[in-house]
Amino acid sequence: MSATSQSPDLAALLSAMTLEEKLGQLSFYVARFASAGAQGANPLDAMRGEGDRLDAIRAGRVTGLFNLYGVTALRDLQRVAVEESRLKIPLLFAADVIHGFRTIFPIALAEAAAFDPALAEATARMAAEEAAAHGLHWTFAPACDLARDARWGRYEESSGEDVYLLCRLTEARVRGFQGRDLVLAPGHILATAKHFAAYGAAEAGRDYNLAEISRATLHDHYLPSFRAALAAGAATVMSAFQTVDGIPATANPYLLTTVLRGQWGFDGVVVSDFASDHELIDHGFAENRADAARLALNAGLDMNMESGLFMEQGPALLAAGAITMAQIDQAVMRVLRIKERAGLFADPYRHLHESDAIGLAARARSLSAEAARKAPVLIKNRTGLLPLPSVPLRVALTGPFARDTAHLNGPWSWFADESPGISLYDGLKDRLPAGSDLIAPEPGDDPAAQMAAMKRADVIILALGETSHHSGESRSRADITLPAGQLDLARQAHATGKPVVALIRCGRPLDLSALDPLADAILITWFLGPETGPAVADLLTGKAAPSGKLPASFPRAAGQVPLYYNHQMTGRPVPEGGDDQYKSRYIDLPPGPLYPFGFGLSYTEFAYGKPMLDSESLAWDGELRISATVTNDGARAGEEIVQLYIRDRVGSRVRPVRELKGFQRIKLRPRESVTVRFTLTRADLAFYRADDRIEAEPGLFDLWIGPHSAGGLAAHFTLEAPAA
Ligand code: NOJ
Repeated sequence: MSATSQSPDLAALLSAMTLEEKLGQLSFYVARFASAGAQGANPLDAMRGEGDRLDAIRAGRVTGLFNLYGVTALRDLQRVAVEESRLKIPLLFAADVIHGFRTIFPIALAEAAAFDPALAEATARMAAEEAAAHGLHWTFAPACDLARDARWGRYEESSGEDVYLLCRLTEARVRGFQGRDLVLAPGHILATAKHFAAYGAAEAGRDYNLAEISRATLHDHYLPSFRAALAAGAATVMSAFQTVDGIPATANPYLLTTVLRGQWGFDGVVVSDFASDHELIDHGFAENRADAARLALNAGLDMNMESGLFMEQGPALLAAGAITMAQIDQAVMRVLRIKERAGLFADPYRHLHESDAIGLAARARSLSAEAARKAPVLIKNRTGLLPLPSVPLRVALTGPFARDTAHLNGPWSWFADESPGISLYDGLKDRLPAGSDLIAPEPGDDPAAQMAAMKRADVIILALGETSHHSGESRSRADITLPAGQLDLARQAHATGKPVVALIRCGRPLDLSALDPLADAILITWFLGPETGPAVADLLTGKAAPSGKLPASFPRAAGQVPLYYNHQMTGRPVPEGGDDQYKSRYIDLPPGPLYPFGFGLSYTEFAYGKPMLDSESLAWDGELRISATVTNDGARAGEEIVQLYIRDRVGSRVRPVRELKGFQRIKLRPRESVTVRFTLTRADLAFYRADDRIEAEPGLFDLWIGPHSAGGLAAHFTLEAPAA
């Protein structure tokens, strides 16, 4: 099948279209399902059954389908579109390729802990290759959502609480999915910057709940990642479910038109989230389906996902003058252009020729293993318990995830390869020093036997945390502690007097305050994917060293959230070590986190020299070069993520106490020193000022280079005013 055609003149194509065909290009539907998980999240609504779908495709009433994959099935559908429909416009095939497709990589939050944009680009690139090999053209990723509330279920899909880190990762992922060419090279897929905007600001951490944030916070923290994704070329944007400032994001003219089109010049496609346009009625924002279609189109939405509202309501709205043909034409043109970008007019069977997935799986799996070694974060290592000594050891591995293979991947793994990943037990069994004994009581074993095994051990490893079902869409939790049974197990382990290592599987920053005193070492392992067992074993045994840093503050209690390091200063800050009354504090807890943003240990120590600045002042249009020497003071090689923070001392809006403005991952041999260099310009200091302009303000700045958001040595500089 080689229906290769020339790129059509899109304007001519548009002018040849009937209204129904135009509205068809704006109508995107969920397809047959890959799994019950996908079905649960995306119930069939507008179109039911195979027959309906084929007829609709033939009639030009469908622009594409999502969450169906496989060359054979998709080629049959494409054939109907390009051989049996009047205008032969190819279909777009999309899916939620979130952290891998057939091969799963660590969840986005885990990948963020690696502070490694090159890694994020590589995993997205590999996911794109796998998805393309199975017939897809478009992914609903990357998530550009900033998260500050650990209760929110989709924290796992975010890249944490920091806007700078999030920007570097989202742009890298867009480049990974799409490549750098305007027309995508084979093996690449279109990316979606989602969920526009402020989806992660859901009040009380409850998914789909309102985002009640100021315009300054919106621009300073929630929007930059979208802009970064678009600057990297993202072809599409998905509107969010919730309201921003009382107006649903899917029908929000400020977001979809003023900012996205007007200020940023975006000319790609805005697709709704799953029936989020129809939900305008449930919000009490639209009276009925016609009203919902009108409000969404007028606000700047181009494409319905599943609701079919434009197709259903468009003709009457047009006849009534509530919408215009020019608006429809503009949206259709945007859709045709992304089909052209996807290479579909040149070859509608692109990605649908015989699968070239051969050999991909092995490459993808080794990348997954690399990512799984880089993402874990060692937050505690009392008396250097880890790495385990290279002598025969008796190890008791216990807890709900010791032998588990069902919860390695985490949420959004609907399309994962069916072969099970490697459990902690299987990973460790082959990697402990020769002569070691690994005892892993089965879940449900007699508690007395479990206790006996722990007592006999040289070291106890507890595999604790959350299941895949505890995070993800609509998986918000009010309680973010470990379950009582897990804490009981930790207490028993602690009571043996043996050293205790806790491995924490999670999709959010958990409240670990009850566990903390019971464990000598804590390794946050997130959801790492199929290579969990070997990766964690390599880290525990010292074959690899932990190098991740927390992309999110770990709270002392859910009562502290939203909790993030880059908060504004209050008029009543708590003095260092102080306990004064009438300060911004709790009477029952310190105000700060249990473990701060950016924190993570290695198996060696890094010493930081004082930041050196090439000047004490930064000219308005100039550059400031900053460097610091970092030395590996220990006897083992290690990787460190060196972080640059600033604070704008005085602003027309109160500035955060610290803001990350740079990071570098460096690798140091024992005793090696490296000079790490950063450059700052005025653009790095800009914020949404009191005059509603995004611009820096002259004045004094603090600066730190250090190992995390609560450390580092300080320096200062002044941003000079522009020359008059
Ligand atoms: C709803 C989710 O919010 C979105 O992220 C996803 O892409 C769609 N469902 C389609 O599965």
